[in-house]
Amino acid sequence: MKITKICCIGAGYVGGPTMAVIAQKCPQIEVTVVDLNEERIAAWNDENIDNIPIYEPGLGKIVAEGRGRNLFFSTDVEKAIDEAQIIFISVNTPTKTYGKGKGMAADLKYIELCARQIASVAKDNKIVVEKSTLPVRTAEAIKSILDHTGNGVQFQILSNPEFLAEGTAVQDLLNPDRILIGGDPSEEGQKAIQALVGVYSNWVTADKILTTNVWSSELSKLTANAFLAQRISSINAMSELCEKTGADVNEVAKAIGMDSRIGPKFLKASVGFGGSCFQKDILNLVYIAKSYGLNEVADYWEQVIIMNDHQKRRFSNNIVQTLYNTVSDKKICFLGWAFKKDTNDTRESAAIYVADDLINEHAKIAVYDPKVSRKKVLADLDCLETRTVSANAASVVSFDDPYEACANAHAVAVLTEWDEFIQYDWQKIYDAMQKPAFVFDGRNILDGPTLEAIGFVYQGIGS
Ligand code: NAD
Ligand code: UGA
Repeated sequence: MKITKICCIGAGYVGGPTMAVIAQKCPQIEVTVVDLNEERIAAWNDENIDNIPIYEPGLGKIVAEGRGRNLFFSTDVEKAIDEAQIIFISVNTPTKTYGKGKGMAADLKYIELCARQIASVAKDNKIVVEKSTLPVRTAEAIKSILDHTGNGVQFQILSNPEFLAEGTAVQDLLNPDRILIGGDPSEEGQKAIQALVGVYSNWVTADKILTTNVWSSELSKLTANAFLAQRISSINAMSELCEKTGADVNEVAKAIGMDSRIGPKFLKASVGFGGSCFQKDILNLVYIAKSYGLNEVADYWEQVIIMNDHQKRRFSNNIVQTLYNTVSDKKICFLGWAFKKDTNDTRESAAIYVADDLINEHAKIAVYDPKVSRKKVLADLDCLETRTVSANAASVVSFDDPYEACANAHAVAVLTEWDEFIQYDWQKIYDAMQKPAFVFDGRNILDGPTLEAIGFVYQGIGS
């Protein structure tokens, strides 16, 4: 099948960058990204490329190159569905906040809405691609909705999970470790798989395109995120033991990472993982396991989340304890609010929970993040509903200048590993702070001995 038009429902952190790269690599295909959120679409179409809604290194250039040529952002969902041969569903699948499975299961209401809309609009055969991360066997539900509410046309459902990480999304999309496509074993299913393989083959070599059945593909995505998050919780668990025993977690990570069976990546101890997906996907995995009565499997994976929550709380408790058991009215400067460097995404960032704990102790939080606005910081805290909106506003100040943020602070806490923090004039920061001046390095990016030579009391994670 010759593919000339693709549509993607959901112009978020996955839909936007993924489609921008497909448009760049497939100039023969017209790619339209649609979203219900008018503000988001307007931002994607903003003449000033710096105003696109997602910050990712290299993304602006690719969007600017494709926009108006074969890359379009629109709110006209129906038109885009009608015209496309392949429809990617890339909408959000958050943890349910109500009803059965509350706090664990994935909320599939946005997915179902997409399926119903595709069914009502489609007048010819379509390939529907699950790009969102979904519970295993979701394709079954999508197929049932499409077949029972559609106009008698044929739908093939593929699972094509996305493995990009934020902050490196463009590089991950240009050079993926693998592309995973799950489809039905029937002849039509295999044809649909080949149509999507054809799209990726424009820039990904055949050995990196893996095809499987739908259920393996859906479950592989949850499994990959669970394994990645598990490594972080594993090293974070060791970080606490290091602090008690005189071992240094960075040395331990290096030593074990040199074992080729373990490998060096994803062994960085930290204040805890954040981001929109690790926690949500593991909770979802736990829920699925429980729903099959696999309680030991569920408990095993749940421990990854329990450890991560512990790590965040341990970090804030340590700040309070070290500052003589009180942070009341003390200024604590947060360097970083995003959940990792090189992104403006703050979803589930450890910074939110650490700030919340410290505000409970009546601390005053000063925030500097190169890509996150004060509005966003406050919105993140308001979402927790721990206290009133005005109480949050009274407890948090954010700064455009890191030196101003640190001035008069009792402690600096590094919450995001932005490269620029390493380059700062730390003597200048020290001079402007209250004494003794503390640094709590939640990312282990600063040089402890150098800071100690300046006069700081320095604490990294796990040493
Ligand atoms: P996001 O919240 O940034 O974007 C989702 C978009 O979908 C929103 O803009 C929302 O308005 C839109 N939307 C929801 N329902 C819609 C509908 N019916 N019609 C049109 N638009 C609709 O989410 P995201 O971070 O891009 O994640 C999307 C999916 O991809 C999730 O399942 C997530 O688990 C998965 N994923 C995310 C990442 C990541 O790095 N963020 C990586 C891999 C996979
Ligand atoms: C993660 C996965 O890496 C992607 O493959 C996946 O596609 C994506 O989730 C998803 O499904 O959403 P992402 O959350 O964007 O990507 O970023 P990561 O680089 O995985 O970092 C997640 C969190 O773990 C961050 O807070 C990061 O600081 C933390 N982390 C990461 C550590 O604390 N230590 C490490 O060694 C690595």
